Amino acid sequence: MFVEILSDYDAVSARAAEIVLAALRRENPVLGCATGSTPIGLYRRLIALGNEEGLDFSRIATFNLDEYVGLPPEHPQSYGRFMREHFFDAAGVDPARVHMPDGMADDLEAACAAYERSIEVAGGIDLQILGIGSNGHLAFNEPGSSLGSRTRVQALTEKTLSDNARFFGEGEAPPRKAVTMGLGTIMEARKLLMLASGTGKAAAVRDALEGPVTAMCPASALQMHPHAHILLDEAAASALAYRHRDGVAEPKR
Ligand code: F6R
Repeated sequence: MFVEILSDYDAVSARAAEIVLAALRRENPVLGCATGSTPIGLYRRLIALGNEEGLDFSRIATFNLDEYVGLPPEHPQSYGRFMREHFFDAAGVDPARVHMPDGMADDLEAACAAYERSIEVAGGIDLQILGIGSNGHLAFNEPGSSLGSRTRVQALTEKTLSDNARFFGEGEAPPRKAVTMGLGTIMEARKLLMLASGTGKAAAVRDALEGPVTAMCPASALQMHPHAHILLDEAAASALAYRHRDGVAEPKR
């Protein structure tokens, strides 16, 4: 793991955008995308930097980590809609190359297996963007998820439901299930880039980076990945025991 600690959210977003942009310059790039509030700044910066250098975003293929079960792609809180709003439309990503887990399929199990196959057919994911839940979840792999899990339906914990309730209107209940790439699926991406910002993530970040590798903290699986790059702001890094004074915590490559 390579852990970089930056001053604040904007610095994390800017650094993340540089890293993603470098991956997108290569031939036939396959990008794994995350949703949530954390990567919004990254997508904004990435579009600006990409446009500045004339990068053709229509060349890239994308695979998202997760999607709610039962929300159609046009629903304002669906992750499909989130991605169109924060990245795909403004960047000019080709809709034919966008892949989202299908939370509306009649046969969810078959749809999950098909999603795994489509990642394989694309040649695997070059760079997977990740956030982290305040309970240590990675994508929607909640605590207790098998470290080898594949794309599947996952029931969301009360903690995740309450964390995400802020995105839904008053009286509108968030879906209680999601389709998520598994931890085993995520671990097969050639590179991982995890972002975390704010004190609300500090305990989860500490457990993920310095705790034991355990299904009870799904993000601790990152410790086993050969190319995991972690970008934290000072607040998200505030509970770490090991760090260098120059802002780079590098004790665990
Ligand atoms: C979203 C996802 C989730 C989020 C996590 C953090 O695709 O996979 O694991 O990354 O819940 O969400 P935010 O960024 O909203 O704190």
